[in-house]
Amino acid sequence: MATELFFTPIPDLPLPLVKFPKYPHRLPPFSLPTPAISSGHLFLKNVSGSKVRLSSSIVVHAVQEEVVQTPNSDFETAPPSSKLVLVVGGSGGVGQLVVASLLSRNIKSRLLLRDPEKATTLFGKQDEETLQVCKGDTRNPNDLDPFMFDGVTHVICCTGTTAFPSKRWDGDNTPEKVDWEGVRNLVSALPSSLKRIVLVSSVGVTKFNELPWSIMNMFGVLKYKKMGEDFVRNSGLPFTIIRAGRLTDGPYTSYDLNTLLKATAGQRRAVLIGKGDKLVGEVSRLVVAEACIQALDIEFTEGEIYEINSVQGEGPGSDQQKWRELFKSVQA
Ligand SMILES: NC(=O)c1ccc[n+]([C@@H]2O[C@H](COP(=O)([O-])OP(=O)(O)OC[C@H]3O[C@@H](n4cnc5c(N)ncnc54)[C@H](OP(=O)(O)O)[C@@H]3O)[C@@H](O)[C@H]2O)c1
Repeated sequence: MATELFFTPIPDLPLPLVKFPKYPHRLPPFSLPTPAISSGHLFLKNVSGSKVRLSSSIVVHAVQEEVVQTPNSDFETAPPSSKLVLVVGGSGGVGQLVVASLLSRNIKSRLLLRDPEKATTLFGKQDEETLQVCKGDTRNPNDLDPFMFDGVTHVICCTGTTAFPSKRWDGDNTPEKVDWEGVRNLVSALPSSLKRIVLVSSVGVTKFNELPWSIMNMFGVLKYKKMGEDFVRNSGLPFTIIRAGRLTDGPYTSYDLNTLLKATAGQRRAVLIGKGDKLVGEVSRLVVAEACIQALDIEFTEGEIYEINSVQGEGPGSDQQKWRELFKSVQA
C-alpha cells in the first residue's frame, strides 16, 4: 500500500500579514517580564559578516492591543514564565503555531530565522522581551553564535524542507543540509545547561529502506532525519523527539492566526501517540505544536521518542494532565 506521507512545501514569500483581530475573550497586553538578555549579549551578523548588537531593528516590538487567542484559552491568567524557548523554524507550519502558542501562554521565545522579517509578518509587533528574533541559517555553523543561546532554557526545532526537489531547495537547502547538517550544527552549538530540546522528526525514519517509506526517502529525507535524531540522542542534552505523521492543518498562509485556531478547533484533535515507529497516519500541525510545548514540562518525556497522529474527535487541548496520560500510555 502506498504511503500517504508526504512533505508539504510552504509557499514562498510574501507570507500573509497575520492580524490579531478582536476575539470573544480579549487578552490583556503582555506583561513585561524580567529581561531575558542583558544589553549587548545578542548579536547578528551584518551583510559584511561583522557582528552588530541586537537592537530594536532586529527585535520585534510590543503588541499594543490584542494577542493571539487559542481556542483552549486557559492561558488568560498565565503568569510570566521563567522559560526562554528558542524556536528554530518558527516561520514554518508547525513552528508558527508553536510561537503563537508560546505567546499566548506568556512564555518568552527567541526565534532563529533565516529571514527575521518573516517574524514581523507572522506575529506582528511584540514586546522585545517576549519575542526576540535572531538571524541565522542552521546550515552555517558561523551563524550559530553562542550569544544567540544566552539565557535559552529550552529549544524546539521544527526546521525542514521538502522531501522532493522544489524551489525550497534553492541554495542547496536540501534534506541533507537541513535535516542532518543543520540539526547537527544547532545541537553542537547548544549550551549543556539546556533543560530540553524537542526535535520534530517524522514517522518512518527507521524504515527508510522499506516500501513505502523508500519512496518518500528517494532524496534521503528520512535517512537524514534519522541522522539528525541520532545526533540529538547522542548529544548528552536532555531531549524529546516527536515524530509526526503526515502533517495536516496548515501551513496557514491565508488566515490570521486567530481565525485559523478557531476554525480548526474540534477537528482532528484526538491524539494518538506511538512508540517504535509503528504509527502510520496523519496529524494536525496544531497537535504537533502542542505536543512539543507539553513535552518541555513533562519530565518523563526526557530521552524519549514518540510518534504522533491525530484523528477526528475531542483532543487534550492544552490540558497537561491529559498529555501526561497520553505520553505515559506508551512508556515502557
Ligand atoms: N509535511 C509533512 O507531511 C511532514 C511529515 C512528517 C514530518 N514533517 C516534518 O515536520 C517538521 C515541520 O514541518 P512543517 O511542514 O510545519 O515545516 P515547514 O513549513 O516546511 O517549515 C520549515 C521551517 O524550517 C526553516 N528552515 C528551512 N531551512 C532552514 C535553514 N537552513 N536554516 C534555518 N531554518 C530553516 C524554514 O524557514 P524559512 O522560512 O527560512 O524557509 C521554516 O521555518 C519538519 O521537520 C518536517 O520535515 C513533515
